[in-house]
Order: sequence, then C-alpha cells, then structure tokens
Amino acid sequence: MKYDRAFFDRGIDRNGTDCLKWDLREARPEGAVPLWVADMDFACAEEIGEALRRRADHPCYGYTVTTEEDASAFCDFVARRHGLQVTPAETALLPCVVTGLKAVVNTYTHPGDPVAILTPVYGPFTASIELNGRKAVRVPLVRDQEDRFQIDLERLEQAFRDGARLFLLCSPHNPLSRVWRREELEQLLSLCRRYHVVVASDEIHAEFVFKPNSFVSVLSLTGPEDMAVSLMSASKTFNIAGLQQAVMISRNPDVLRALKRYLEAVGAMSGNLFALKGTRAAYRYGDAWLDGLMDYLAGNLRLLQEGVRELLPRARLTPVEGTYLAWLDLSAYAGDCSTLASLLREQGVVLTGGTFFGPEGEGCMRLNFGCPAAQLQEGLRRMAAALSR
Ligand SMILES: Cc1ncc(COP(=O)(O)O)c(C=O)c1O
Repeated sequence: MKYDRAFFDRGIDRNGTDCLKWDLREARPEGAVPLWVADMDFACAEEIGEALRRRADHPCYGYTVTTEEDASAFCDFVARRHGLQVTPAETALLPCVVTGLKAVVNTYTHPGDPVAILTPVYGPFTASIELNGRKAVRVPLVRDQEDRFQIDLERLEQAFRDGARLFLLCSPHNPLSRVWRREELEQLLSLCRRYHVVVASDEIHAEFVFKPNSFVSVLSLTGPEDMAVSLMSASKTFNIAGLQQAVMISRNPDVLRALKRYLEAVGAMSGNLFALKGTRAAYRYGDAWLDGLMDYLAGNLRLLQEGVRELLPRARLTPVEGTYLAWLDLSAYAGDCSTLASLLREQGVVLTGGTFFGPEGEGCMRLNFGCPAAQLQEGLRRMAAALSR
C-alpha cells in the first residue's frame, strides 16, 4: 500500500459506523462537515487492519496475555521516532490516557487538594480532577504578540506555593497547538522539583509536530529520582482511538508501581485482545503510513493558514506547532461560543467550542484539520458563509 497524497485525499465514509465524530446527531446535524472531535477522517494503516482481521479469523476470543512484545514494540517505536530510550520495565499498559490522568490524581492527591493545569486545556483534564473531588487550579497560558501562548511561570509557582502537589501537563498542548521547547520543560521540571510536585505529562500528541519544532518528552529530562510520568498512546498517532489502549512510562519505579497498584485496585487493566494486536501492528509496521500522514497534514496546515487569511480575515489563528488541531479566536465575529456554534451549525459545519477547554476559551473555536483537504476546504467555506455576514 502506498500512503501517498491520493491515499489521504480519498478519505473514508464513516457514516453509520457508530462514529462519535460523524454519527452523534446531537453534535453533527445530517450533512454538516465535522471538524470537531480529535479523530481523523483517514483510513488507518492497512497493516493494522490486516493484523486485526488475521486475529478475528481465529474463532476463539478468550482471555489474552500481555507479552513483553507489547512493551518492546512501543519502546522500539519511540527509539526510532524520537531517539528516546525506554525499557519495557519502565512501562505499563492501561485502557486510555484519561484513565492515566485519573490514576495520577487519585494516587497523588486527596479529596479537596489543588491540582495545577495550564489553561485552556483538553476538557478531561479538569474533569479528571473535579470528578474525583479535587480542585483544579487554573494557570492561564498567556497569548503573546504572535498569538502564541506562553507559560506564566510566576503564576504556576504561586499555585505550587499555595499547595498544589500535582501538575498535569499537556505536551504538545491541546487545544493551543504548542510544542513545549526543551528549555520550557526544564523550567517546569525545576519548579516541580523545588516544590516536590508530581508531574504527569500527557504526550498523546507527541507524533504531531511540524518542522522546525521537535517533540521533547519529559522522559528525556527526568530520572529515577523524579516524580514524573508520561502518558502516550497509539490511538491518536495511528487513528485507532476506538481500540482503547495507552501506555504510561516513568523512570521512577515507585511511581510506576503506585500507579499500577491503583489501576489494579479499580480494575482498569489493559489486555483487550484487539487493542493489543492493533497497537502492536501500529508500532511495528505503521511508520510509512505515519510519514505519509505527516506530509499530508503539513499540506492541510498550509491550506488552513491560507483559508483563514482569505476567508476569515478577522480571525486570529494561533501558530500551529503541533497536533492536528487549530485554535481560532473568532471573537471579532461573535463574542461567545454558543452564538458561534449556532451560526456555524446553520451553515453546516461543526467545530469544538473553546469553552470545552475552560472559560478562557470563550469566543474561540478549535478546528480539527485531520481530514481530506476537500473536507477542510468545504468546512472553511461554510465557516466564512456563517461568519462573514
Ligand atoms: C490531550 C489529550 N489527551 C487525551 C485524549 C484522549 O485519550 P484517550 O482516549 O486515550 O483517553 C485526547 C483526545 O483528544 C487528547 O487530546
């Protein structure tokens, strides 16, 4: 299979597959272009489908063991793609990244405790804290003159000084498309060390980084003495979120042990037969698909930048360093997300409202450009029709 432009242009009909992005009628009215939930409208790598079909052809679907190969496939993948050395002993599987966030919250804080986050941020960060009775301490990211968001270190330090002993980091950052630089991460980690703060870095978007930016994992900056854990998954990388499997990695054996103990206690263990098979195939044989995808997404990003410039001149597009998600300040068109969303829906296009990521997102929308270029262009055309009135 050739994973060229034509492959990704072709897209795939996802209607009627119980697909969250396409089939959830409350969110996407019939005929609307979905540019919302972070899931891509491309067929996944044929190598993954083959592995799943091969296993499905065997008629027994009994209890399945997780083997060393599951961890090795991941370790080899991150070594190949990022030069990151991880050993199987430093990893553990879990059902999904958000489960990992909740495990960290429950393991390292008590009800009522403050937990620091950089906002706006992927909604389940706040939910993972608040659903467990903890207090989310929001440290707003600050927009600079180029519309890029920067960390307010003083305010983060204040949150630590005020008692936050857990920090949930989104790296690369969803929804603000930031790829944190090595120096920024070093500053964050040194603050965490100074205040004995545990850091959990959600690195699910690690593969989606556009040149000249490059991904730096907290794993390359931490050792066995650090209270740090990284959460990764093939789900975003290879568009297999429905399989539900993730991996947590820590240089610190005590951290890994504590998190595994929590997951065991609540019964959130991994080991789904198809998740294991699909993920292993993705990490072992998915590189050609992923390379093709990244070239394609870079092209979509250019289309998006041009489209916004020409069709939505009053929009402010945050520079996209990573992820396939773009943050658009549309407040010059309408001041609040619910008005923006209904204007867009009327013209048949659906984005994610900025307030899903926190109150700081009012007047902004997140656009998912992980789709065939024609779909993106149609979405932009409809956005212009909705807003340029
Ligand atoms: C930053 C981030 N973390 C986690 C998730 C969800 O991951 P999972 O399905 O593994 O819980 C998403 C999905 O959009 C995400 O953007």
